[in-house]
Amino acid sequence: MKIGIVLGTRPEIIKMSPIIEEIENSDSELVLIHTGQHYDIEMSKQFFIDLKLPVPDYNIGIGSNTAINQISIIISELEKILTKEQVDIVLVQGDTNAVLAGALAANKLKIPVGHVEAGLRSFDKNMPEEINRIVADGCSTLYFVPTEETAINLQNEGINHNSIYVTGNSVVDACKRNLKIALETSKIKEEINSDEYIALTLHRAENVDDEERLRHIVHSLINLPYNFVFPVHPHTRKSLENLGLYDEIDNCDHIQITKPLGYLDFLYLLSQSQLTLTDSGGVQEEAITLDIPCVTLRYNTERPETITAGGNILAGTESEEIMKNISDILDNKDVYDKMSRAKNPYGDGTTAKQICSIIKERYDEDNLKIRRADEIEDFEGYFMDTVSEGITVKEYEARNSGNIIEQVYSEGIPQYISEELNLNNKTIIYKRFKKINW
Ligand code: UD1
Ligand code: UDP
Repeated sequence: MKIGIVLGTRPEIIKMSPIIEEIENSDSELVLIHTGQHYDIEMSKQFFIDLKLPVPDYNIGIGSNTAINQISIIISELEKILTKEQVDIVLVQGDTNAVLAGALAANKLKIPVGHVEAGLRSFDKNMPEEINRIVADGCSTLYFVPTEETAINLQNEGINHNSIYVTGNSVVDACKRNLKIALETSKIKEEINSDEYIALTLHRAENVDDEERLRHIVHSLINLPYNFVFPVHPHTRKSLENLGLYDEIDNCDHIQITKPLGYLDFLYLLSQSQLTLTDSGGVQEEAITLDIPCVTLRYNTERPETITAGGNILAGTESEEIMKNISDILDNKDVYDKMSRAKNPYGDGTTAKQICSIIKERYDEDNLKIRRADEIEDFEGYFMDTVSEGITVKEYEARNSGNIIEQVYSEGIPQYISEELNLNNKTIIYKRFKKINW
């Protein structure tokens, strides 16, 4: 089997790294395609070094540009690469422009797409990432979702539960595989000025491209009586410099600015911090994996499991709220301990292994390809039913050929549809086809 991976930015390199390692240790062939969206050494190459990844087979070298420019050029370059390489599946991860372009290009070439970290929704269409996720999911054939809650998002959008796999998040694999190495080898400890500090990251477009929000966030950093270590994303650095805020922060004794850190250095920094203040998706997940309380500089998150688990708080971007939330945690041991003990909802670090074995199994069963029209005949409509016998989803669908269950409610609450879910006393919504072959 030949597997294509399209990636373009720092978090994709990190979260794909365990999957790349699994593929390299298998019989499958890997074609690694970097779009070049992140190109600074510390935003890209450093991660290939830290995570011992192979040099990409292709680098489209897209660089920085408008989203439309990036996406359209990546798609047309991918057409050439994917047509030449004839891969059996393309994997994309997350919600960046690389994901949208990779999923769309592959789908147009009728190549199956596996979306790693599928199904996340912030329900905020102002975020470029939300549209990227939705389009990528629309193009995908296999959905590797981190949690059951995420699977329910996809079920709500009519995605067939037979193509959704709850695998956890590969960020946990990356964390677990690298934490010990980071603690033993990172030299960053010699550079951190304080024993107690908040690890700060900031880069979301809706924060750093919005002057008012950025000023509010900076105001809170300057006024909080805690130490910060702040590896500055290049996007953020440019915005801070344009507004004359960079020097203001740099002149504060309690804020230590660094370049963007490599993965091992960042893992060290985060794991030894008191708390993290962030608007990053990956850092929210890593914080709960490493038992570090997280305060998120956003009004919504596509990672609500971290909030429900008690490890993350949405502070928004107003100075007063940010300051209050941080003080409430750091000045109250009970709150702090409770947040540190929040249970990680993102699995046990076996996500990459699970994903690779699911792909292999489907490939071996000749069940990877996009369905042909004659396998999906005549959609008859949506129907609702209440089941009054102890029958599983798998048994129900086998008995009622052509029916695909789309939602299951138990006492009004939507359920994750696993094959083994018992439908007794549950209300189901299903699609009916004259014939369907999944
Ligand atoms: C991108 C992703 C975002 C992800 C983030 C991870 C999209 C729409 N955004 O945001 O979802 O969370 O990566 O970090 O895909 N720049 C450099 N050097 C680089 C890369 C960028 O200087 O190596 C600067 C350029 O000025 C560029 C700006 O950062 O214009 C923004 O880069 P871009 O890749 O568009 O978005 P990110 O903010 O990095
Ligand atoms: N990260 C890093 N160095 C840094 C900041 C973050 O290695 O200086 C890692 C972090 O461990 C996480 C990932 O980058 O795995 C998150 O990427 P980012 O915040 O850029 O993007 P997002 O996750 O929000 O898409």
